[in-house]
Amino acid sequence: MSDICLDADLAAAAEVILASDAVTIISHIDADGITSESILSQAISRLGISVKTTFIRQLDPLTLHQIPQDDSLKIFSDLGSGQQILIEQLGFESDQVIIVDHHVSQPGEREYLEVNSLKYGEHKTSAAGIAYLIARELDSTNKDLAKLGIVGNVGDMMDREDLRLTGLSHAILKDAIDHGNVEIWERDLNIYGISTRPLPNALAYTDDIDIPGISNDVSGAQRFLEHLGISQIQGRWPVWQDLSFEEKQLVTSALVEYVIAHNRSTERMFIDHYLFLDERRDYAPLLNASEYATLLNSCGRWSKPLLGSAICRGDRGVSYQEADIMLRNHRSKIREVLEYITDNGVSEYSHMLFIHVGGRFPDTIVGIGAGMALSRLNPKKPILIMCEDSMDETVTKVSMRTKPDVIKSGVDLQAALSTAAERYGGSGGGHKIAAGAFIPKDVEREFVEDVNRILAEQFGASESNS
Ligand code: C5P
Ligand code: C5P
Repeated sequence: MSDICLDADLAAAAEVILASDAVTIISHIDADGITSESILSQAISRLGISVKTTFIRQLDPLTLHQIPQDDSLKIFSDLGSGQQILIEQLGFESDQVIIVDHHVSQPGEREYLEVNSLKYGEHKTSAAGIAYLIARELDSTNKDLAKLGIVGNVGDMMDREDLRLTGLSHAILKDAIDHGNVEIWERDLNIYGISTRPLPNALAYTDDIDIPGISNDVSGAQRFLEHLGISQIQGRWPVWQDLSFEEKQLVTSALVEYVIAHNRSTERMFIDHYLFLDERRDYAPLLNASEYATLLNSCGRWSKPLLGSAICRGDRGVSYQEADIMLRNHRSKIREVLEYITDNGVSEYSHMLFIHVGGRFPDTIVGIGAGMALSRLNPKKPILIMCEDSMDETVTKVSMRTKPDVIKSGVDLQAALSTAAERYGGSGGGHKIAAGAFIPKDVEREFVEDVNRILAEQFGASESNS
């Protein structure tokens, strides 16, 4: 699709913002939502326009009352496209709203200005990327904010399929590199936690590389590294970022040899990492894009999105200390979700995996745990996880995750969940690869069966086309 349309939408968004006296940003509580908010609110307040923010877990009937009914321009970021009917119900006119999003659009009757990357054929650019392009349109000196655009994109896993940012996101990356606060490590080892995780743990728990004797085996990974002459220094294992170039090459080539010797694929062994040159070593979780995003999720998904927003604005004092505690809690809870799923096992339906975790974990994090568990279960089938809704005991929260190969077989989780949810009086949305819904608690069983049936049709349609 053409770029002209994107340019026109960016210009229109900038024009509406510049003509406003006051703006309210309504944003999502995850890393992409927090970075989108931070980019937009910084760019807008730099113009001298007053900005307020409301973070919500999702635009749904239970959160509508959180949106102020005043005269300010409402910018919905990282949400809104899929809930335009609810925005209409709030009574907002077309000229009172801008939607900055990357979720599948579900338009209502009123036409809102919707700057959504999917409209321009960009499936791998998140809301923070679009927010950055609007910020740059408002003032070309806003290039310092491109870094946050990278964090949002990586937080929403826009780099997962190609193992690098592509398309519009790559153009944003170029701005960040030009500005000088971001550096790229191209085709580097595909592990998570390059700045904070002891290397044996990072190697053992990578999702993408299957290495017998190392994957899911920290002691095996330690022995592998010791054999190469890499060991603890003063009782601590180094992190990947601590290694010299030569040491990194040594580990990488030994791993490639090892993987090939075990007849495993090297296809997903390398990824682009995005490093932040303006962050200090004392704040290690902020040194690279994916860990920065985890820190923001650990604030937002645990009811402290404003803390994440303060970090994005550069607060490295009390806010950082608090966020660091949130991060430790988040990591340990995600591990608990993962262990709960793998220990208790899932029900295997014909076309998906299913687990209900009751009220054990907050509805804002179960999807992350399910996504991580998938590689250890059966990655050929999508996983559906259910839990109690924290805001309403008559409601059940649903999250689904799948893998890129399954998408290629015709599966579309957004379509499956929004169709089934609507049928049972709920609402859902998201992406092909990751989607969510809220449904009435008393239809759980029928809902699961319906989603499985829809998935069977999606898989079947691709088989009959091939
Ligand atoms: O709000 P929404 O777009 O922001 O959330 C995206 C979710 O989809 C995140 O939890 C992210 O981890 C997940 N995702 C995924 N695999 C991808 C892309 C996104 O699990 N390839
Ligand atoms: O909540 P979870 O992380 O599973 O959400 C996955 C994706 O589905 C996100 O992109 C989120 O914005 C979207 N979602 C939605 N409607 C819901 C719940 C989640 O569009 N009711």
